[in-house]
Amino acid sequence: MTTATLKARVHCLRYEARDVVSVELRPEHAGVVFPPHEAGAHIDLHMSNGLVRSYSLINPAGEAGRYVVGVLKDRKSRGGSAFVHEQLRVGQLLTISAPRNNFPLHESARHSVFVAGGIGITPILCMLERLSVLGHTADLIYCVRSRADAAFVERLNDLGSHTLRVHWHFDDEAGGPPDLRDRLSQYVPENHFYACGPGPMLDAFLSTCEALGCPNAHIERFAAVPTLTGSIEAATFTLELRRSERHIEVRADCSVLDAMLEAGLSPDHSCREGLCGACETRVLAGDVEHRDSILTESERAANKSMMICVSRCRSNVLVLDA
Ligand code: FES
Repeated sequence: MTTATLKARVHCLRYEARDVVSVELRPEHAGVVFPPHEAGAHIDLHMSNGLVRSYSLINPAGEAGRYVVGVLKDRKSRGGSAFVHEQLRVGQLLTISAPRNNFPLHESARHSVFVAGGIGITPILCMLERLSVLGHTADLIYCVRSRADAAFVERLNDLGSHTLRVHWHFDDEAGGPPDLRDRLSQYVPENHFYACGPGPMLDAFLSTCEALGCPNAHIERFAAVPTLTGSIEAATFTLELRRSERHIEVRADCSVLDAMLEAGLSPDHSCREGLCGACETRVLAGDVEHRDSILTESERAANKSMMICVSRCRSNVLVLDA
């Protein structure tokens, strides 16, 4: 893994809601600053159990003295959120990545609409605060199972008095999830619409935006789409690395990333699931079969870059700028 890493100390752990904690990280040494982050960005935490997990930054964009992430204790945790909740302690040192942003904010929009499902509030929180700084307005539809699950309520209330309208939705009080078509149809389709939360909610959001003719729909997923990463039949192809002047065979049972690692190269990578963006590589030629959970349909169609940890090639040769 060659992605640039930083050393950070756990400065503070804070209860935010049922099963949600925030983790404040500061540079290991006084006088050191972290690279600035944009609204919507995330960092990877390298845990002492060997796992690497990405979490959205919730502190205001541009703060250099600290990073803060919000973490839900996932009932189906594969080890990442359980580690944060059960083993991470104040004072521990962690290796982290520099911030990456796969969920950028369109700052020129005068009004934006957000849908947050549960812990999906985390990247959105930072985006709402950025819009507030810019003096732009926003609507937030914040959906949680019940009131006890709603995190960062005070911060949202503070923002709400100035530039933000929060529409709370509690499943247990409303008798189920929100009617997104009804909610989103109340806005001008040309607005920018953002959503982050569970996969089914994001799928419903995208299909609703399409049905309503909203061209500016943006999502961020926390989990890979299974049909994109697992079940598609793969074939062997030749990988040409233009800058390295290398040709490598990529077997059907091997990813582009692993083929490059086996060949002694050191491409950046982190999640290996098509979620974090660390391995994004420029495509020079080849018919890419995108299997990541990051790129939009138009980005896929443009065929300019790919996530080499999961995406493959339909043509016989794939040429990368690597
Ligand atoms: S390593 Fe995370 S997207 Fe490829």
